[in-house]
Amino acid sequence: MTKTELIDKLRNEKNLADEEFKELLQGLSEKEEEYLYAKARERREKYYGKEVYLRGLIEFTNYCRNDCLYCGIRRSNTNAERYRLEKAEILSAVKKGHELGFRTFVLQGGEDLSYTDEDICEIVSEIKKLYDDSAVTLSIGEKTRESYEKFYEAGADRYLLRHETANEEHYSKLHPKELSLENRKRCLKDLKEIGFQTGAGMMVGAPFQTVENLIEDLKFLKELEPEMVGIGPFIPHKDTPFKDEVPGKAGDTLRLLAIIRLMLPKVLLPATTALGTIDPMGREKGLLAGANVIMPNLSPITVRGKYLLYDGKICTGEEAAECRKCMEKRVELTGYRVSVSRGDAYT
Ligand code: SAM
Ligand code: FES
Repeated sequence: MTKTELIDKLRNEKNLADEEFKELLQGLSEKEEEYLYAKARERREKYYGKEVYLRGLIEFTNYCRNDCLYCGIRRSNTNAERYRLEKAEILSAVKKGHELGFRTFVLQGGEDLSYTDEDICEIVSEIKKLYDDSAVTLSIGEKTRESYEKFYEAGADRYLLRHETANEEHYSKLHPKELSLENRKRCLKDLKEIGFQTGAGMMVGAPFQTVENLIEDLKFLKELEPEMVGIGPFIPHKDTPFKDEVPGKAGDTLRLLAIIRLMLPKVLLPATTALGTIDPMGREKGLLAGANVIMPNLSPITVRGKYLLYDGKICTGEEAAECRKCMEKRVELTGYRVSVSRGDAYT
């Protein structure tokens, strides 16, 4: 089969055999890439038209009890300037975001146990009470099923928890011993069963990642069928053990975005800040390769420069309103348009 025939097969059957995925992942000509992106756009437009959903990201704490080897806010990084936002500061960021037209708020942070489940529930239910037209997404790591149930009861709609890699051995090279792929998968299963719109995903070009690992990731995503998939390039951070590792490539990320769109046509798929960091036009290119979500930063300007997972992060200087305008312009450049709806997964 030619590569364009493989792309057609993926579009029609929403799956491929391992060897066929491998052929697509190992490289395409410029013309084949363009064909792949065009098919991915056709799929996203079938379900989501020309709309791009905005998510207001509030990075409310950079304290973390974990020590993931790739991550700039890992607990061993004593150079990280730590901060945590008060409930009132989070609510004020949400208020500003709501005025700017955001209808989804993503609360993301390190695993910071100084926020109890009750604190998180209080923040979630307050946001839902004040803005009943909006969705709340949590991205606060691995918790017990009981905790996830409480968050759901409090009104949280979605949960992002990248699986990071679906291969045990690879997982153990990226994480300290106390973290396990098994627990990560347990969390994702619980989240889905409880009823969250759930997001998984991985970094592209993470240290030690092989093509076989990526194929396992794709198969894991196919099986889990998450409503959202977050992927972005790995970018080294100077104060981590991976400081000298090679960053992931924009081209590889775009190819994977398009493949994921064809495999899970209705998925909510962000063009990430990390993609915009390794390529100044990365997010626009991501939208043209099948992505349909952008996550502008709503964190207060005073802490923006402190939530540094990797070096060179973009958009750490702008006010929320500036960010919002900039996004609108960037999205328009692609021929798509910003949507002010909640942007739930297509059902
Ligand atoms: N603590 C939560 C969790 O573990 O899901 C949410 C925050 S965590 C920092 C969010 C995501 O950032 C991770 O899932 C990881 O894929 C990504 N990330 C961390 N370090 C990165 C790096 N150096 N380059 C690119 N992405 C990175
Ligand atoms: Fe916890 Fe990165 S190590 S958020």
